[in-house]
Amino acid sequence: MERENLSMASVYWKRPLVITRGKGALLWDADGKEYIDCTGNYGVAITGHCHPRIVEAVKAQAEKLLSCHGTFYNDARSEFLGKLMALTPDGLDRAFLSNSGSEAVEFALKLARKSTGRAGIIAMMGGFHGKTMGALSATWNKKYRAPFEPLVPGFKHVPYGKIERLEEVIGDDTAAVIAEPIQGESGINVPPRDFLPAMRELCDARGILLILDEIQTGLGRTGKMFAFEHWGVEPDILCLSKSIASGLPMGVTVARNEIMSSLRVGEHSSTFGGGPVACAAASATLDVLQEERLPEKAAEKGRHLIEALQVLKDKYSIIREVRGLGLMIGIQLRFDILNVLLRALDKGVLFLDAGRNVVRLLPPLIIGKGQLDRVASVLSDVLGEEEAARLRG
Ligand SMILES: Cc1ncc(COP(=O)(O)O)c(C=O)c1O
Repeated sequence: MERENLSMASVYWKRPLVITRGKGALLWDADGKEYIDCTGNYGVAITGHCHPRIVEAVKAQAEKLLSCHGTFYNDARSEFLGKLMALTPDGLDRAFLSNSGSEAVEFALKLARKSTGRAGIIAMMGGFHGKTMGALSATWNKKYRAPFEPLVPGFKHVPYGKIERLEEVIGDDTAAVIAEPIQGESGINVPPRDFLPAMRELCDARGILLILDEIQTGLGRTGKMFAFEHWGVEPDILCLSKSIASGLPMGVTVARNEIMSSLRVGEHSSTFGGGPVACAAASATLDVLQEERLPEKAAEKGRHLIEALQVLKDKYSIIREVRGLGLMIGIQLRFDILNVLLRALDKGVLFLDAGRNVVRLLPPLIIGKGQLDRVASVLSDVLGEEEAARLRG
């Protein structure tokens, strides 16, 4: 801990524990204490920590070839692309491979500009797309943006869920709209039922592109392989990352052929993008997702957990709202949640925050129902203690 405190850029809020090992939905710290992981490492570990199929695929590939630039063809990369294209909707059939969510978004923004010849991007208030300069320009939170201005020009933000406001700001120079199907970082905000379909219709009517950022919602988390399936809407450009390689760094931007073909050789690249080890891990991830029916299981487990959390809401007035889809769940409290996170950590459950007052859960999709019951029970204890402390004043 001392070494990290001394030597790392101090950009992370640090939890007071050293994680050394993981298996399934469990993590262990350096003292051997066990935790149920409801962070899923920020939504990455959908197949759980160290799923044997992923570990095996990584080991086998590491013994064959560690790196292979995109200017060469590679067997692991083409195998992964085949599996990915079998999953994405018809027409979304070309991908650029990179290494992170921000990079997937950067590429989507460049692609939107190049393919339309227009510069304007409309993003959503509350939206989060990463912290590199282009992605940050689409991200909403002033705390992340203000110290680094001026950002990339041409970005506007409109209220999430209000189609009339979006309609008003679309102009002759608008290239694309970018949105998360469910906003993660800003508090698990599920949009009104008709918002995504209306956004799709509006983009078609005005000849602009729809970029869906499924970096947090993607690959089964919400109970469908892609969250856009809940609304029967398909994007023109799709961003994936986090969970796609079960923990190895990978970003993917998928687009329709006519959009992707606007780019010329050399207009974008990434040294590590589409590397063989990440591709092997991603291939194994897609196999596990389908063979173990993880999206369906996420839907079922999510319903089970949300039911248990609704019971807590009836019990504790400090809960304002429980919301989410599948295993992407937010519990909004009436106050700052830091104490709740620390108390739960003490009791062996790790949660995420989303803003100051939302406890966010992005557990591995393989988490057991017994583990989810334990999570609800720990949360009940923690909220009970917190409510009592508040009543004492
Ligand atoms: C929806 C969304 N987009 C983009 C990003 C940025 O991803 P990364 O941190 O890998 O750059 C995140 C990360 O939390 C995200 O949730």
